[in-house]
Amino acid sequence: MKSHGPILLLLILFFAVAAKAEDGYKLWLRYAPVQQGPELNRYRQLAGYITITGEGPTQAAIRREMSTALPAMLGTTPGFSSVAGAEPGIHFVLDPQAGIGYQHPWQKEQCFSVKYSEGANGGDRIIVSSPSAIGLLYGSFYLLRQMAMQIPVGQWPTITAPAIRWRMLNHWDNLNRYVERGYAGISIFNWHTLPGDTDQRYTDYARANASVGINAVALTNVNANATVLTDQYIEKVKALADIFRPYGIRVFLTARFSAPIELDKLPTADPTDAQVAAWWQQKAAAIYKAIPDFGGFLVKANSEGQPGPQNYGRNHADGANMMARAVAPFGGIVIWRAFVYSNETPEDRFKQAYNEFVPLDGKFDSNVVIQVKNGPIDFQPREPFHPLFGALPHTQTAMEFQLTQEYLGFATHLVYLAPMFREVLDADTYRPQQGSTVANVITGKSYAYNHTVMAGVANIGNDINWCGHPFAQANWYLLGRLAWNPAANAETIAREWIQQTLTQDAGAINTISKIMLGSHEAVVNYMTPLGLHHIMGNGHHYGPAPWFNSAPREDWNCTYFHRADAKGIGFDRTSTGSNAIAQYATYWQRQWESVGTTDTRYLLWFHHVPWNYTLANGRTLWDQMGVQYQQGVDAVAAMQKQWESVAASVDTQQHQKVSRLLSIQLSEAKWWRDACLLYFQPFSGNPYPKGAAPPLQSLDYYKNLRFPNAPGNGQ
Ligand code: GCU
Repeated sequence: MKSHGPILLLLILFFAVAAKAEDGYKLWLRYAPVQQGPELNRYRQLAGYITITGEGPTQAAIRREMSTALPAMLGTTPGFSSVAGAEPGIHFVLDPQAGIGYQHPWQKEQCFSVKYSEGANGGDRIIVSSPSAIGLLYGSFYLLRQMAMQIPVGQWPTITAPAIRWRMLNHWDNLNRYVERGYAGISIFNWHTLPGDTDQRYTDYARANASVGINAVALTNVNANATVLTDQYIEKVKALADIFRPYGIRVFLTARFSAPIELDKLPTADPTDAQVAAWWQQKAAAIYKAIPDFGGFLVKANSEGQPGPQNYGRNHADGANMMARAVAPFGGIVIWRAFVYSNETPEDRFKQAYNEFVPLDGKFDSNVVIQVKNGPIDFQPREPFHPLFGALPHTQTAMEFQLTQEYLGFATHLVYLAPMFREVLDADTYRPQQGSTVANVITGKSYAYNHTVMAGVANIGNDINWCGHPFAQANWYLLGRLAWNPAANAETIAREWIQQTLTQDAGAINTISKIMLGSHEAVVNYMTPLGLHHIMGNGHHYGPAPWFNSAPREDWNCTYFHRADAKGIGFDRTSTGSNAIAQYATYWQRQWESVGTTDTRYLLWFHHVPWNYTLANGRTLWDQMGVQYQQGVDAVAAMQKQWESVAASVDTQQHQKVSRLLSIQLSEAKWWRDACLLYFQPFSGNPYPKGAAPPLQSLDYYKNLRFPNAPGNGQ
């Protein structure tokens, strides 16, 4: 008889490969089969029967999610009922009492509790209760996460509520689908085919957000286009809001300050003009008619060419309050950005936001929030915390992080941002006193803020895997988890994400978590060690260009920021320089006033340091720079090896994608090292540092590189 062995083998191989090919679309909601473990049987018993109180669209969403996830994870197809009984299984129960003990009404509303009771002969029950259907939805995702992580049921925390009210994504997406600083394709919001085509992708986006507790999204670029406020576009926004609502997500729009002039030919946009105020009131009423739970406006004003109240001699409070009063009757808020600086002001750019906003403290309406970037310049690989945190006791202050890696290697470099975000959140502002960390400020613990916000500038596009780099998804995941609990640990979040997204193999989880946790320090070292900042290519911010000094304004030049000369390198922001440190509490002023007491991670943020200054470790500054640039490169090489070692535990297609990107990251890390050290060396008056490998190309070679089509920097 003829043997079919080889054909069979080929077929088996084919299906094995096909089954493993993953494109990353499912994100952390991949619902891979839970491997055999002591808890598996218990999960299966529980998953057999599910009750959900109520019949609304959120309940339907819970049911859909459980119907997708449980068969895939456990092989169990649940039976459903809307009447909670005494049966074994999982019961989602609407219970007004569930939120008792929480300080804020919004926390009570969004909390959920989980109670487990063991019954005889597989009679176990889990009761998830919340005062709201959204709380139950959060509870359902929570439950699936615990199962994916194979956490024993008895160890599940019993009650949780978000620490921040608005957990938010800021999309910098234009209406023509171009994404400013977007590296993952064009916008997922297809304004042309909305409102008709309510693509499944919008629902999957909402599911992903809800699964990590994100409850607000600003759909449009802060460099705003007034068109989104027209009736035609409000219809489109409504279509999205309708899809997002069952998932507890509220929609915000960016509002162009000059919209009354541009859309309706008003002679002015002066916020004190009655006609202008009436225009915004009518606009708000029209939006709320279509979208009753519209969140409000996100505004960039008088910054980088955007119009604002200062065009009319008014201040930020005048502008923000005028808009806030338009949305107040409907419960809306205005998120006003503090990213303001002007080149007409002959002042260190670092200091300008503080100078503008501190005098206005207490002048903003109760539904205005001031959104501050994590650091004083602009999302650099490492920045000291922004001096506005803690400096606005009477003004609700929010955090703006950037998930899209504008200054961190785009979507090509593997950079897990949790250690960086933690560093900022854990920084003690010493305002009003010790213990007032940035996390305490933005959660309203230091000062009684009612509207608290953590926003992340989204890294999402229409690439099949949403974020370009498979690991960039982890930063989206992170934003939600950290906004829910700003005390959450970077490693815990990484492990959760890995286990749900990539693998359940314990050894591989350890290795991948090490890669992720070290990745931020790696990028700082190969791009901007020792407190260097803003030395990226002009405009697109791709690659190194410390030599760049021909921008139309001084504070867009790299030389403005590093100030390298024969004497040393770095920006003196002490009392002998711009004195930006005076914007911080005395504790920090003392630390940062002298080179010797400044943490070397921030050294060149605050000091112009002589090249041959001896650091605490005995090396000169110049030698240390060489060592750190090399450490950055070595770290990427190590990440590559570690990643290769987990090949058998991760989907092949995903693994290969990351391997290819790591190769690019390694060559770009070397490019950064070589270009920066070659450029700074003549200033230093020293030989090329021994700690770094010899450069691969000449300085001229690097200077002549051009990237006319670098992504994220067009229209
Ligand atoms: C950066 C970024 C701009 C963006 C701006 C902002 O400067 O490069 O593209 O518009 O930040 O946050 O408003």
